[in-house]
Amino acid sequence: KRLILIGPPGSGKGTQSPLIKDEYCLCHLATGDMLRAAVAAKTPLGVKAKEAMDKGELVSDDLVVGIIDEAMKKPSCQKGFILDGFPRTVVQAQKLDEMLGKKGTGVDKVLNFAIDDAILEERITGRWIHPASGRSYHTKFAPPKVPGVDDVTGEPLIQRKDDTAEVLKSRLEAFHRQTEPVIDYYSRKGMVANLHAEKPPKEVTAEVQKALS
Ligand code: AP5
Ligand code: ZN
Repeated sequence: KRLILIGPPGSGKGTQSPLIKDEYCLCHLATGDMLRAAVAAKTPLGVKAKEAMDKGELVSDDLVVGIIDEAMKKPSCQKGFILDGFPRTVVQAQKLDEMLGKKGTGVDKVLNFAIDDAILEERITGRWIHPASGRSYHTKFAPPKVPGVDDVTGEPLIQRKDDTAEVLKSRLEAFHRQTEPVIDYYSRKGMVANLHAEKPPKEVTAEVQKALS
């Protein structure tokens, strides 16, 4: 399947992605994870992206479209994919349509992680991640077996630089202003499945499975 995950920061896109990936054997492309890796490695792309990311603003369309274009060439992404955090502007959605149109394919479904803003601060400020795999934990809602340590690799967990209450405000503003129109864009095409993203993770997973069956 060719899937897009859209939702505000902390809505659970990254949490549900591995489960969807395992079940449907897809490639998982998270632009946020790829950009953070580029920032950490101080690549030219990372250097360009860092300032916007630290402020909670969107990185330029050209940069992220370039990343996705390149990543979609991977053999594992030929039969299907999960796009987590892309497209986030209508321009990005149009570019994606073009990209897929050239291959004679298109998007199958858009999962909209609908959730009230008020819930997100607690989720964001309690999150700890394993940067190498993108796995995320939460001190209250999804604690690791050993505090501060990844369950699978035993490596240390870190907090994202943009996971503060203050930066969250800008990220939410960017979501409402620039990304909500993307949901309308796909709604008009009849492709959107709305999820109750405020529910516990397992219930959200069940909704995802229902939407994809
Ligand atoms: P990105 O990394 O995509 O961040 P985001 O969209 O803000 O989303 P998050 O990763 O914060 O949320 P999530 O939905 O994955 O939440 P998670 O599952 O981890 O982007 C970062 C930055 O990169 C952007 O600000 C921008 O600068 C740039 N960027 C990226 N893509 C771009 C693009 N296309 N264009 C331009 N710029 C781009 O869950 C959060 C926490 O809650 C976790 O701790 C988790 O354990 C917990 N949790 C999850 N689900 C539940 C649940 N059901 N109940 C209770 N707790 C839960
Ligand atoms: Zn994420």
